[in-house]
Amino acid sequence: MSGSEAVRIVEVGPRDGLQNEKVAVSTETKIALIEKLAEAGCAAVEAGAFVSPKWVPQMADSGDVFRGVRRKEGVAYPVLTPNMKGFEAATAVGATEVAIFGAASESFSQRNINCSIAESLERFRPVAEAAAERGVRVRGYLSCVLGCPYEGRIAPAAVAEVARALFEMGCYEISLGDTIGVGTPRETAAMLNAVAAHVPAARLAGHFHDTYGQALANIWAAYDEGVRVFDSSVAGLGGCPYAKGASGNVATEDVVYSLEGSGVSTGVDMDRLIAASRFICAALDRAPASRVAAALAAKAA
Ligand code: HMG
Ligand code: MG
Repeated sequence: MSGSEAVRIVEVGPRDGLQNEKVAVSTETKIALIEKLAEAGCAAVEAGAFVSPKWVPQMADSGDVFRGVRRKEGVAYPVLTPNMKGFEAATAVGATEVAIFGAASESFSQRNINCSIAESLERFRPVAEAAAERGVRVRGYLSCVLGCPYEGRIAPAAVAEVARALFEMGCYEISLGDTIGVGTPRETAAMLNAVAAHVPAARLAGHFHDTYGQALANIWAAYDEGVRVFDSSVAGLGGCPYAKGASGNVATEDVVYSLEGSGVSTGVDMDRLIAASRFICAALDRAPASRVAAALAAKAA
């Protein structure tokens, strides 16, 4: 298959996966996980979030984590920065890629970052400007692109509008998040069609949570629409074991198995990925949410 068919995997387990864990994961464990995922061949490993420690205590040590990681040549280590305070803290420890994160739903924006969509864009603007001045790459996240826990269905036109604003602000890529994993393949295609009228598909990424078991099907629907970047989480980490219905991102193992098995290159080595998956599952004392990881473990037993 030609290079243009290949997929870039953005591994978000150390951030999106761990941010929901109630028990504090040690800084050393986070560093080791990030290094193992980079060694496995993930093109990018999201390394933390410079957000309020009162809002997300698990990410409070992101500065120490970032400083401690032996960075691998060619791998990107983006971190979340909702405002200038986060941006300054991230760049102070050497971050060269940051992510701003908005929402297509007003209610989710308020609950997640304590401001309206319009206010969030005003907070992001100085971050994007400072990043451009300092040669820092900016990724844009958009949450609730296929549904909101408070508002239900979200119109594709609303998604397209905020995606365009983030793109025009200078984000090199917009990651479209099905935050609560409710979308289906045809809804995914319809949403992407609306967004692609403003942001080229080559600048879009898919970020699917797997709550309703649709994530892999949605990835293929997005692939058919020209999307070649997908966010996923080792072992399907994420979600809260105490919050009914919450679930993690699609498991990286399952994404890699499906894509590689279909002749689409990801650059990820399954054996090393499984080693990273076992490592973090042992640390969290939990079985992987990945079907592939479970199947390979059963086969080896
Ligand atoms: P706020 O309360 O509106 O902010 O929170 P503020 O500017 O009024 O500041 C209040 C306090 O927070 C102050 O401290 C600030 O210093 C501090 P105090 O005086 O009370 O001691 N503060 C900060 N501390 C550290 N780092 C910062 C920072 N900014 C302010 N950057 C804020 C606004 C955005 C900070 C808050 O709402 C927040 O931290 N939210 C975090 C939300 C979050 O991390 N959510 C999870 C990630 S998004 C996600 O998972 C979705 C995604 O995966 C895609 C998808 O699935 O859809 C990306
Ligand atoms: Mg997410």
